[in-house]
Amino acid sequence: MAFQQGFIQELKMRSPIHDVIGRYVELKRAGRNMVGRCPFHSEKTPSFTVFEDNFHCFGCGAGGDVITFAMRIENLDYKDAVTFLADRCGMTVPQEEKRYSNLEKPKLSRERAFSMNKAAARIFYENLLSPDGEAARQYLAKRELTSATIKRFGLGFAKNEFYDLYNKLTALGYTRDEIKENFLCGISHKSGKPFDMFRNRIMFPIIDTSGNVIAFGGRVMDDSKPKYLNSSDTVIFRKGKQLFALNYAKDVLLGNVQSELVKPGQIILCEGYMDVIAMHQAGFTNAVATLGTAITSEHSRVVSRYAKSAFLAYDSDDAGKKAADKAMTLLNEVGVETKIISMVDAKDPDEYIKKFGPQAFAKLLSGSVGQIDFKIGGILQKYNLSVPDEKLRAVDECCNIIAGIYSEVKQDIYIQRLAEISGVKQESIRSKISKDKRRNQRKFETQQRADMQKKTMHFDDRINPEAIANPVAVEIEERILGILMLMPEEYAKCDSLKEEDFVTKFSARVFKAITDLYKENITDFSSLNEVFTPEEVSRIFDMRYKRSELSANGTQALNEQISALKKVRNKIQVKNKDVSSAEDLMDLISKARTDKGVN
Ligand code: UTP
Ligand code: MN
Repeated sequence: MAFQQGFIQELKMRSPIHDVIGRYVELKRAGRNMVGRCPFHSEKTPSFTVFEDNFHCFGCGAGGDVITFAMRIENLDYKDAVTFLADRCGMTVPQEEKRYSNLEKPKLSRERAFSMNKAAARIFYENLLSPDGEAARQYLAKRELTSATIKRFGLGFAKNEFYDLYNKLTALGYTRDEIKENFLCGISHKSGKPFDMFRNRIMFPIIDTSGNVIAFGGRVMDDSKPKYLNSSDTVIFRKGKQLFALNYAKDVLLGNVQSELVKPGQIILCEGYMDVIAMHQAGFTNAVATLGTAITSEHSRVVSRYAKSAFLAYDSDDAGKKAADKAMTLLNEVGVETKIISMVDAKDPDEYIKKFGPQAFAKLLSGSVGQIDFKIGGILQKYNLSVPDEKLRAVDECCNIIAGIYSEVKQDIYIQRLAEISGVKQESIRSKISKDKRRNQRKFETQQRADMQKKTMHFDDRINPEAIANPVAVEIEERILGILMLMPEEYAKCDSLKEEDFVTKFSARVFKAITDLYKENITDFSSLNEVFTPEEVSRIFDMRYKRSELSANGTQALNEQISALKKVRNKIQVKNKDVSSAEDLMDLISKARTDKGVN
């Protein structure tokens, strides 16, 4: 085991699960537990429940303890998740002896990666102020960035040299492997020599919400390609999850800092680094951007933690419109309302603000239309309303959109408006919408039933792939494991149960892991995170949870399940024997045939 039990116990005591999860998910009290919207799948109604010492999502099945949560949400392995939680509550992780086998490369630790990036950002900033940074300073001046903005965003300059940063970082004690793993140098195929990854570029540090520099983007100062070079994913950076400038925007979003131009809970999403920086400089400190990727569902979940509504200020070209469309869908899935900003005579927010000023941009925000208006507007534009057939189709499509609106009051407003625009009677529109709603509800229920069925039949069961062939055995196995987890004392009494009694390998593995803990008198399951994946841990916690919902637990229930398992197991063995003897028979027959020269 990687950590002493006492250490893990204290870590968990100092990291109350509500606190840790509460930093990522807005939790509300519900009886003894707390509930919120699951950060691991998209949902509008909360089915994510936090119990005293574990969490469980009734929608997607995610579950586990506080360490499992950290592993999943921050995408860490067991040791890094423990370190992450320890940092958070001010504990020092006991250093184990670092013994690397010859084959194993030393892995860059999170702390080293953070401190290396911080040093690199400082070096880039110093370069910008140095005589070598003249052209870069001019470039930034041309883009109308003030020195206060440059300082605030920590912009810098990577010199037009191959070993500048590399030499400075090695002088600070970072190894070649560490620098490479942090995407700050590459290794030449020809000479095998390391070289700086970012050269002759304006550097944009990417900072997470805890203030760590986690990656860089670098822009050329001319038309060469690629325009931006971004860090690849590293131990501390996952592109599809991060939002540029969220570290600044979060304060106004959460209402910790007041701002004239920004209301709490309203975020502005744009495409580029430069857009975000220009907006912040103009006072719109609620602007963020994805990092060289389209918005992902993970981004949208991050947004939903900070904002109730989002202005989409994407570029005004076709690609921008498409991106806005995708953002609208993803954000809507997590309950964030969206409004579209359309800019005329400017290709992006940066250019718009420069041309027309912050006040004009503020007007754009207040005049922006919500997505329902946007969609209805699009439909009405598509059809010629003076042609009856087309009008019918337009009204039909609009009804479908309105049927999807959650609030009835809002629905009512749109029904009235649609009636006015189309000249169709309100009652007709209403009855069409009720029909649409019923149809959507049926569709939803059918889908839900199908999902449920799939789950109980163990289709698609990636965690226990043997479950589909042995559904009955798995049911019983999970009941047994659930009871054992709930009642460690039962384990001591049941010497009749062995690893070999389990039909599926996964259950046998879980049994072994649990009983190994019990043999050491450990009844806390955190260390399961070390040997099982977070998904597997979720399943194991689920077994325990399901059992805890039932009252019939204890010796008798356990013995019943054990004998049931043995019965099923015997049946399977007999069946397998039959098959094998039938195979033997076939072998004999075919052998006899070839012997006789038949065939
Ligand atoms: P844009 O080309 O719109 O750049 O790309 P921009 O931010 O407006 O930059 P300026 O105004 O020309 O300086 C939008 C975003 O797409 C990513 C970057 O995150 C950029 O900010 N991108 C773009 C890349 O990652 N690589 C590229 O080569 C280009
Ligand atoms: Mn731009």
